[in-house]
Amino acid sequence: MSAVLSGHGLGLAFGPTTVLHDVDIALDPGEIVAVLGASGSGKSTLLHVLAGLLRPDAGSVELDGRRIDHLADRERSELRLRRFGFVFQLGDLVPELTVVENVELPLRLTGVARRLARSQAMEILADLAVADVAARRVNEVSGGQAQRAAVARALVHRPAVVLADEPTGSLDTVTGELVLEAFVRAARAVGTAVLLVTHEARVASWASREVQLRDGCVVAPATTS
Ligand SMILES: Nc1ncnc2c1ncn2[C@@H]1O[C@H](COP(=O)(O)OP(=O)(O)O)[C@@H](O)[C@H]1O
Ligand SMILES: [Mg+2]
Repeated sequence: MSAVLSGHGLGLAFGPTTVLHDVDIALDPGEIVAVLGASGSGKSTLLHVLAGLLRPDAGSVELDGRRIDHLADRERSELRLRRFGFVFQLGDLVPELTVVENVELPLRLTGVARRLARSQAMEILADLAVADVAARRVNEVSGGQAQRAAVARALVHRPAVVLADEPTGSLDTVTGELVLEAFVRAARAVGTAVLLVTHEARVASWASREVQLRDGCVVAPATTS
């Protein structure tokens, strides 16, 4: 199968510090890949480079075999909106909006009608057991509820790729599994490829494959399935 998203020979330094070194990574449609590594090993930076939020100093990023790291900012923003879903960190939601308004955003911004957007957003919030707080503002829900809302927003528009940085970090086992099940459903139903940063073996066990980073290098692309 040909990769939906791939990075080739990615290198990045912040000043004198090399953070990514010659990283190769490829995601097939419908595959869930766990990125593991110690704190500071470059996991979040890799996600930002693959998302087009940071430009690599070396190498390239391709979506559907087309190079995207050289595109203009506006084109990369458009791709991010339509083809990607992100779960980056808490605080990532728009605080002035309600939970359901946040989840609807990727749909509304791409022209989906209000009622359809609302029903699709409510459906995925229900899957994640946060439909009951849909009408609350983001600052009126718990950290774990906000995190699940962020996951709902990342999946609602059925993106080709989801990049998720510790998406179960502030969740207990049961709600964490709701998130992982939502990723699996998206992968199976619409072929979404999910790249999932975690340092929990329990979370990584949901992935079809693991990529291990150490000091910015891929060290052990072990198969776990
Ligand atoms: N904007 C930045 N400026 C300078 N150094 C950074 C920046 N972002 C990350 N780093 C450094 O890059 C390394 C990798 O960071 P990061 O990708 O966040 O690691 P991880 O997510 O694996 O914990 C760390 O040493 C971190 O301090
Ligand atoms: Mg990180």
